[in-house]
Amino acid sequence: MNSKRCFLVFLSVVVISVVTIVGAGMSCGGRAEPVMRGKYLVDLGGCNLCHTPKLMTSFGMELDRSRLLSGHPQDGTVSEYTAEAINEYGWVTKSNFHLTQWSGPWGVSFAANLTPDEITGIGAWTEEAFIETMRTGRHLGSGRRIQLPMPWDNFAKLTDEDLRAIFAYLKSLKPVENSVPAPIPPEKESEMGLME
Ligand code: HEC
Repeated sequence: MNSKRCFLVFLSVVVISVVTIVGAGMSCGGRAEPVMRGKYLVDLGGCNLCHTPKLMTSFGMELDRSRLLSGHPQDGTVSEYTAEAINEYGWVTKSNFHLTQWSGPWGVSFAANLTPDEITGIGAWTEEAFIETMRTGRHLGSGRRIQLPMPWDNFAKLTDEDLRAIFAYLKSLKPVENSVPAPIPPEKESEMGLME
């Protein structure tokens, strides 16, 4: 083989490789892209603020990335608060250290586990059930009403594609087994001695 021919063979091998790599990248992109978009929307939507436990570091408070989006920690106690939370201006909404437990006129609510754990998270949820939950503000679309401060009505306006992307990202997270308590309605709070 002369050197010109050899070069042409080499060139075609390079071209074929590039086409194959780009082609493979594009077909894989079909799966990777919604996850990236979902992460982008979750970061923007502030989901971590309420759904991820926090750590105190020398730089201040940070997200506990070892249990990202796993909700109110099951080992955390239900912080007590009293009717002092109601002052002359009305309610002062209170939260715990992790910002995962919230008390206000609706009672006490605990941020849900959004990791794909089958039992304690959203591992067994279908994409449709997730979209319906975010659109209707009801658990799985037809169950109990989701309490404040979950700003579901803001997210209800997202497109199906964006909600699907959020679901794809949540499904890609590390599953964390963490059983989050059900919300406590106001009438139950006094029975439990949480409110005077
Ligand atoms: C200001 C705090 C806050 C923010 C921000 C927030 N959530 Fe929530 N979320 C909560 C609380 C608290 C609950 C539990 C409410 C309840 O139990 O009724 C909840 C519940 C949910 C539920 C319902 C779970 C179930 O079992 O029905 C889903 C799904 C959810 N959040 C997803 C998200 C996503 C996705 C984002 C970001 C796009 C987000 N949340 C942002 C506080 C928040």
